[in-house]
Amino acid sequence: MIDFGASDVRIFLHLLGAAVWIGGQIVLGALVPVLRGVDPEAPRLAARRFAQVAWPFFVLVVVTGIWNVLEVDPANTTLGYQATLGIKLLLVALSGVAAFVHSSTESRAVRGITGGGALVAGLGAFVCGVLMVG
Ligand code: HEM
Repeated sequence: MIDFGASDVRIFLHLLGAAVWIGGQIVLGALVPVLRGVDPEAPRLAARRFAQVAWPFFVLVVVTGIWNVLEVDPANTTLGYQATLGIKLLLVALSGVAAFVHSSTESRAVRGITGGGALVAGLGAFVCGVLMVG
């Protein structure tokens, strides 16, 4: 029989949060040219709605990430694992800060750089998470 325990719930919620945070950015980015063609204001409206969905899922990733750390107990892991986790946490922070600046700046250049940065840092965090599984 399939055994679905607390650790499965933990990983499911962690990956769900990561999927919405990162996948949402990819899909919204792909839709921007289409939305702009419909109405120049449409990308801004869609981005605002996306932010209302994405931030709660970012919080979900961080909360379940803390739950992961408590379960894994990094003190009992290899130096490589700890380094990967450290780099991952920096990338998570970078992704969150970049997304925040992206949605609050008035500068087009800063918006472009931080929008790309939020996605690349998020993808980097995902790669670190995969590497931690071994
Ligand atoms: C954008 C943010 C994040 C992404 C994309 C992400 C991604 C991932 C992925 C893909 C895994 C592997 C899951 C598996 O199949 O077992 C993972 C595991 C893990 N994550 Fe994250 N994560 C993020 C944020 C965090 C944060 C903020 C923390 C700590 C506070 C964290 C701590 C962990 C730990 C400790 C594991 C290992 C869990 C285990 O082996 O049971 N993650 N993460």
